[in-house]
Amino acid sequence: MHKDIADILVSEQDIATICKDLGAQITNDYAGTRPVLVGLLKGCVPFMSDLAKHIDLYVDIDYMSVSSYHGGISSSGDVKIKKDLDMPISGRDILIVEDIVDTANTIVTIMKLFEHRGAKSVKICTLLDKPGGRQHHFIPDYIGKTIPKAFVVGYGLDYDELYRNLPYVGILKPEIYRTS
Ligand code: IMP
Repeated sequence: MHKDIADILVSEQDIATICKDLGAQITNDYAGTRPVLVGLLKGCVPFMSDLAKHIDLYVDIDYMSVSSYHGGISSSGDVKIKKDLDMPISGRDILIVEDIVDTANTIVTIMKLFEHRGAKSVKICTLLDKPGGRQHHFIPDYIGKTIPKAFVVGYGLDYDELYRNLPYVGILKPEIYRTS
């Protein structure tokens, strides 16, 4: 699997530092509250696991699975819920944990949904931010690392459902795209 990676963009060591730093910030910012960490499946799984260990607060953790349709047959921003939250969020402080924000279609739609459901606050923590891909003006509240407009895999991020289990984030070799 590692042989398919052209370049490592965020190393295991970088990820460890990011999780520690963001966890400390979140612990400080949410002191005295009991936020709900909401992970968007499946890409969030490694990040949620590592980040949550550095948040020294009582937190609830819940997951949602959504699929976005960019271009193609549906208008951009059309987000379908495949698995909804298990818990009600009315009156709760919500921190959405994302692997990457690209166009921001997904996150903007989910934020509106949570506000509609009566969340007290909704903030976003993303491991990676790709501002070059934006279709909405949107700045995440917590960003692990800002990256250029490239397609990346690893640490939860997939290409055709593969590479989620890479321990780092990297750029795939172009021949992988060409042959699949
Ligand atoms: P957005 O609605 O365009 O911001 O979509 C975010 C979602 O698109 C992420 O949660 C990923 O699942 C997927 N995505 C965006 N960029 C990449 C990438 O470079 N590699 C893998 N998945 C990506």
